[in-house]
Amino acid sequence: MKKTFVIFGLALVVAACNSNSNKSAGDSTATTTAATSPATSVSADTVGLALIKKNDCLTCHKVDQKVIGPAYQDVANKYTSSPAVIDTLANKVIKGGSGNWGAIAMSPHPSLSEADAQEMVKYILSLKK
Ligand code: HEC
Repeated sequence: MKKTFVIFGLALVVAACNSNSNKSAGDSTATTTAATSPATSVSADTVGLALIKKNDCLTCHKVDQKVIGPAYQDVANKYTSSPAVIDTLANKVIKGGSGNWGAIAMSPHPSLSEADAQEMVKYILSLKK
């Protein structure tokens, strides 16, 4: 309870400061708003995202940028979500492999359950634009 008031109070102070100055402080407010809104739209699939964070996926993948593996948004745009596609991609995550995006192979993840792999794939496919 107390914490909420403090945070709310701080937000008011920050808001008041911004409206009183015409300096670049206003820019930072805009950036914060932009950064938080995509996160809210994605929260429907937090199970898959949590699993991705718990595993090693993010060493090779980013949501919006190619690293070693393709950006998750590119993966989402390549496929149309269906039970068959989710199944195929989940198996690929477990078994690893290459060929769909280039010569670099994804490492296998044999300790993942099919169900967990499917949750992750569902989250990835939900990033489609
Ligand atoms: C060692 C780096 C690496 C790690 C770790 C990794 N990936 Fe990948 N991933 C890749 C590469 C490289 C590809 C592209 C494979 C290809 O060309 O077919 C890929 C492709 C994919 C694809 C698309 C597959 C296709 O056939 O289109 C999905 C989905 C995916 N990864 C999910 C995951 C998930 C979920 C994890 C964590 C459990 C993970 N990856 C961990 C490197 C990695």
